[in-house]
Amino acid sequence: MAEGPDIENEYNNFTALNTPDNHPARDMHDTFYLDKNSLIPRQDTELMVDLVLNQFDKKSKLNILDLGTGSGVIGITLSKFYPNSLITISDISPKALKVANKNIKKHKVSNVNSIESNWFSGFKEEKIFDLILTNPPYIAKGDVHLTNLEINYEPSNALVSANNGFSDIFKIIDSAANFLKPQGKLFIEHGYTQADKVKNYLQKKYFDAIKQHQDINHKIRVTSASKIKV
Ligand SMILES: C[S@@+](CC[C@H](N)C(=O)[O-])C[C@H]1O[C@@H](n2cnc3c(N)ncnc32)[C@H](O)[C@@H]1O
Repeated sequence: MAEGPDIENEYNNFTALNTPDNHPARDMHDTFYLDKNSLIPRQDTELMVDLVLNQFDKKSKLNILDLGTGSGVIGITLSKFYPNSLITISDISPKALKVANKNIKKHKVSNVNSIESNWFSGFKEEKIFDLILTNPPYIAKGDVHLTNLEINYEPSNALVSANNGFSDIFKIIDSAANFLKPQGKLFIEHGYTQADKVKNYLQKKYFDAIKQHQDINHKIRVTSASKIKV
């Protein structure tokens, strides 16, 4: 069988362009096994990891869900910083989960479980998570930001979402409160043009303490919120 594209080289080219060497989560880019079945981790995603690192003590015993985990990069990275915490990583794609499971082994972490799930379908509606982090597909079909590199080397269902890019974000917000502990936190990565709509939608769906976080280019790329006390 013919070999696929040289993903490792493309990946190195890609991250060399985007990632500062001195970032605390640099490991996210250097040591993850990747193939064409999972998203190439982006610098933007480090923002979400940073936000958690800045808010929660490393000794915390948290129950964390990385929803739409792809290569496992968010959950596995956090599992190393939070050895006393339990991390669940989930994805709808069995092929992506295979990549994530390889990375669990590669990184020798024992506090990470992986689950195949269409967003929350594989979970019981128990309010067990302290934190849910997600970098869902949020690019509109035909968006100019879909570069050739992405189209050629990454699965489109990892990037593209219906309803002008909002379909998956809204589905996640619709259900997240059912799986979070009271005052549990949701962190969502999204496109900078989506920030206002994400904020408004969270306000309608049992969340408050909404904060929006900028990337190094001063664009809002992550919104976090707490489940309201009920
Ligand atoms: C933008 S990628 C993010 C991957 C990884 N978390 C990262 O930051 O590099 C989105 C991920 O969501 C997964 N996904 C798409 N639709 C999903 C669904 N309905 N349920 C669960 N995961 C889904 C894709 O397979 C993909 O791995």
